Amino acid sequence: MQQQTLAIVKPDAFRKQSTGAILARYEKEGFKIKAARVRWLSVREAESFYAVHRERPFFSSLTAFMASGPVMTLVLEAENAVLRHRDLLGATDPAKAAPQTLRNLFGASIEENAVHGSDSEENARQEIAFFFSGAEIF
Ligand code: CMP
Repeated sequence: MQQQTLAIVKPDAFRKQSTGAILARYEKEGFKIKAARVRWLSVREAESFYAVHRERPFFSSLTAFMASGPVMTLVLEAENAVLRHRDLLGATDPAKAAPQTLRNLFGASIEENAVHGSDSEENARQEIAFFFSGAEIF
């Protein structure tokens, strides 16, 4: 069954102009781009998006980083998209991510790890709704 997931090209990858290469990889791997938008999150928006992590020691650093420059938010669609996208991203820490995964190729550190991806179907629904209205997804 076709499934949708949310991706964010984070400020580090966006700054390094890796966005085009990441989009090309999505298309090559069979993901359909159903929505895409460049935005610059406020700290408050980043805190709200990552609210599940608010008790973590890295929360304030993560949310400041996510608000440090423009990002690209994307809705991707494919068969089993959530898991397939997680596989394509690789491990959270780019140093541990398998060769040729997006974080291995484009990530710099556990925080500046190039791309975010939803980790479950339920979270994908919530994260997509956080950024996009139904009318913006094609
Ligand atoms: P992401 O997939 O966007 O989901 C939560 C983010 O928190 C994660 O990617 C990392 O960027 C960040 N993160 C997770 N663990 C750590 C950590 N130990 N130190 C700093 N940032 C982290």
